[in-house]
Amino acid sequence: MRVIERIEDLRAACDLERAAGRSIGLVPTMGYFHSGHRSLIRNAREGTDFVVVTVFVNPTQFGPDEDLDAYPRDIAGDLAAATEECADILFMPSVSEMYPLGPPETTVVVSALTERLCGRARPHHFDGVTTVVTKLFNIVGPCSAYFGHKDFQQLAVVRWMARDLNLPVEVIGCSLIRERDGLAMSSRNAYLSSEERAAAPALFASLFEATEAVRGGERDSAAVEKLVTDAVAENAFLDIEYVEVCDSLTLQRLDKIDGEVVIAAAATAGRARLIDNVVVRVDGLSFEVDLGIRLGSDSIE
Ligand code: PAF
Repeated sequence: MRVIERIEDLRAACDLERAAGRSIGLVPTMGYFHSGHRSLIRNAREGTDFVVVTVFVNPTQFGPDEDLDAYPRDIAGDLAAATEECADILFMPSVSEMYPLGPPETTVVVSALTERLCGRARPHHFDGVTTVVTKLFNIVGPCSAYFGHKDFQQLAVVRWMARDLNLPVEVIGCSLIRERDGLAMSSRNAYLSSEERAAAPALFASLFEATEAVRGGERDSAAVEKLVTDAVAENAFLDIEYVEVCDSLTLQRLDKIDGEVVIAAAATAGRARLIDNVVVRVDGLSFEVDLGIRLGSDSIE
C-alpha cells in the first residue's frame, strides 16, 4: 500500500490506473478506523480493481462549537487497518494541502435534503461534506465510491448531488455495522464514558422495538416516533435530539409507513452525538427490515 500526502501524486497514480483500464473504488473517511470502515474497504476491494482510501478530518464540515480539535485520530492504527484490508493507496493530506487558500470560496450545496434531520442541529455540516467529497471525486476519478448506511442522510445527500451534477461515479451504500450489543459503530463512540457506553445501545434497542411495532401492523409514523422517544427517555444518560420516519430517498417525513422508509434518530450521551437508523419495507402485508450487521455475525468476521 502506498501512502500519499500530495494531491498531484494521488491524481497521477489514479490517472495511471485508469489508463491501464482498471476501475477505481474510493472510500472517503475521517480515519480512526473501526470495523465499519474496514467493511467499506472490503466492499471497495470486492467491487473495483484499485482501492483508494482517504483519511482527512475535514474542518469545513464542523461547526464552530463542534469537536474538530477533539476528533479521535490514530494514524498508525489506520495504516495498519488499511494495509490489512489490502487498500492500494491511503491518502492522508494536510489541511493546507486540501485548502491552500483557507476555507473554499466555492462550495457544493444540496438544498432541502440537508436542512432536515441532522442538518437542523448542524447547519452547513453537509455543505462541508459535499464540497470535500466533490474535491475527492475530482482528484481520484473513481467509478464507485463507498459510504456507510449509518450516516444515512450523508449517503442520501451524496447520491442526490451525484445525480444532480451528473458525476460519473456510482455511490454505493454499505451496511451499517454494529457492536455486539447493537450500538452503531462510530469513531465518536470514543467520547463515551463507561456509564454512557453502557447506556448507548438503548438507542438501537428503541429503534428495534419500533420495527417490531411496524411488523405487528403499526403504520402511524407519529406513534412509532413516540415509541422511540419514550423508550430513549427512560434512559438517564441519553437525550433524544430527533426521531423521524422518512422516505428513504427524499428524507421527507411521512405520516404513514408505506413502501421503503427509514426510522432515523439522533441522541446525545455526554459529549457524544449518536445517530442510528433502521430501514423497513412495507408493502401490503409483506414486511422486511434492515437492521445492519452486528459484530460476531458471519458476514462481518
Ligand atoms: O463520513 C465521513 O467520514 C465524512 O463525512 C466524509 C464522507 C469522509 C467527508 O469528510
